[in-house]
Amino acid sequence: MTSSTYQGSKNNTLRADSQAVGLPDPIRWENGEVAIIDQTLLPMEEKFLRSRNYRDVCEWIESLRIRGAPAIGIAAAYAAALAAFEFESHGEIDEKLKGALKEINDTRPTAVNIRNILSRLGRLDIRGESVGNAFVEEAHRILSEEIDSCKKIGRFGLELVPEHAVILTHCHTGGLATGGYGTALGMIRAAQEAGKNVKVFADETRPLLQGARLTAWELKKLGIDFRLIVDSASGITMKKFKVDLVVVGADRIASNGDTANKIGTYNLSVLCKEHKIPFYIAAPSSSFDLSAKSGEDIPIEERNPDEVTHFRDCRSAPENISVYAPAFDVSPAENIAAFITEKGIIRPPFVGNIAKTIGR
Ligand code: MRU
Repeated sequence: MTSSTYQGSKNNTLRADSQAVGLPDPIRWENGEVAIIDQTLLPMEEKFLRSRNYRDVCEWIESLRIRGAPAIGIAAAYAAALAAFEFESHGEIDEKLKGALKEINDTRPTAVNIRNILSRLGRLDIRGESVGNAFVEEAHRILSEEIDSCKKIGRFGLELVPEHAVILTHCHTGGLATGGYGTALGMIRAAQEAGKNVKVFADETRPLLQGARLTAWELKKLGIDFRLIVDSASGITMKKFKVDLVVVGADRIASNGDTANKIGTYNLSVLCKEHKIPFYIAAPSSSFDLSAKSGEDIPIEERNPDEVTHFRDCRSAPENISVYAPAFDVSPAENIAAFITEKGIIRPPFVGNIAKTIGR
């Protein structure tokens, strides 16, 4: 058996109770291949993609076939394993593998999970070992930990959710975005499972409609009472329906609490301030970047203008116009009431409290 052959358990059989509610696992390792559900096609089509080529996984991450900060971190770990098998790396991260890890790292710049997880792989003791085997075992552990973190986030978050709470959320933070269960959506799911009878408003999340396509799809399968709104309806919704709290996920949280998340999140944080509604971030420790002092240090991904001027192949704006297409924005720490993490709830002052909790 060469080092290009995975020698451990054949399949990753982890489940996040997803199948119990009719939700597919977002990512799996099966017989030496990575398999994902193509999120760009949902909810119209449930198509699974599989490959043993790390370049395909890079393309899946770049094109958002797999997306959501924790999920792309997990995908990056499996991509690194595929690269190590391809190059038959043994005992060290050789030059070819280093190049592949850089390609994986550069797929999407804002979510820190990719970077955090690649550094975690870089710290493994791989002396005398097949690097592919070591990476794939670590990827399994990462997936398992992310699912576990989501469930803990859900449990910690319960104390912040009143009975019959009206909750507003943005983008998609469910099982598909996280490995299983969900962060902000996990908190909503846990509250529902605890019998709190919540009502949810889900922002559609322009331009790629992660809210309309994915959050609505998961909420429906989970049997949670919800209404879909256009992003610009969040203000009137807060006023008219007396929203009790807003909870969203995160792509990168700086050490002072400034938080990058899907474009439009910042607007929500400002609206929450105006309406005196608590604005919460639910995220695992893999989404924190303690090396970033503030939001100023967070790179913001800009996407292809076609994503704004078109939906799929259908043009919705004139040709030859100028577009600004940031995929994320930063909500300032002062607008955030608390972070819900797998290590507990972090409240202000965030400088110090974040380092204390996440550094543990
Ligand atoms: O561009 P996307 O769809 O990957 O953006 C995803 C988000 O902004 C999510 O809110 C964030 O990653 C948290 S996922 C639990």
